[in-house]
Amino acid sequence: MPPHPTPSEFELVPEIQNRWSPRAFSSRPVPRDLTRRLLEAARWAPSSFNEQPWRFLVGDSESPAFRETLRDLLMDGNAWARRAPVLMLSAWRSRLTKNDKANRVALRDLGAAEENLFLQAVSQGLVAHQMGGFSVPAAEALLREQGLGPEFEVGVMTAIGFPGDLDDLDGSLRERELKPRKRKPLSEIALFGGAGDDEV
Ligand SMILES: Cc1cc2nc3c(=O)[nH]c(=O)nc-3n(C[C@H](O)[C@H](O)[C@H](O)COP(=O)(O)O)c2cc1C
Repeated sequence: MPPHPTPSEFELVPEIQNRWSPRAFSSRPVPRDLTRRLLEAARWAPSSFNEQPWRFLVGDSESPAFRETLRDLLMDGNAWARRAPVLMLSAWRSRLTKNDKANRVALRDLGAAEENLFLQAVSQGLVAHQMGGFSVPAAEALLREQGLGPEFEVGVMTAIGFPGDLDDLDGSLRERELKPRKRKPLSEIALFGGAGDDEV
C-alpha cells in the first residue's frame, strides 16, 4: 500500500488503487514461482496481431550473477533499486514477424504487458518500480549477448520485491517516498468533444 492513499475520483479495483512505485525494498528473496506468475500475467496481455513483442531478462536470487549484471546497468539516481531481489530488463521486437514491417505499436504492447505484471505483483503482495534511468548502450549489448537480435530494442528496467522499510532509505529518498500521490485531473486528460468542457 502506498504511504499516501490514492486520491482517485472513483473507487477502482484494489490492484490499481494500491499500485505505486516504491524505493524501499525488502532484501527477502522472491521465490522463482512468484516471479514466474508475474511473467505469466505479462504473457496474457493483448498485443497487435497477437505479436507478443515483449521479452524479459530477469535476474533473481537464484541467478545472482545475472542480477549483478543487471544491477550494473543502473544509473546512480536509481541506486536504491540495487537492494531489490529481482531486477528485470524488458525488450520489444520492433518489426512484425509476419512481414518484417515496422511495428509502430509494439512499445504500447510492451507497456500493456508490464502493467499486467505490476497489477499481478500488487495482488501477490509484491511491489514493482519501473526505471528509465540505466545505461541503454550496455543494456543493448546485454540483449545481443542473450541472443536477442537487432530487431529487439531496449525497453525499461523494473525492480521487484517485497515492500521494504522506509527507515532504510536516506533522507531525500524517504521524503520523496512520503510525498502525496498526484495525477492530472480527469477533465484535463479525457476530452468528450467540447473544448474547455470540465463536466467530465
Ligand atoms: C517508463 C518509466 C520510467 C521510469 N523511470 C524511473 C526512474 O528511472 N527512476 C525512478 O525513481 N522512477 C521512475 N519511474 C517511476 C515514475 O516516476 C512513477 O511511476 C511516477 O512518478 C508515478 O508514481 P507511481 O508509479 O507511484 O504512481 C518510471 C516510470 C515509468 C513508467
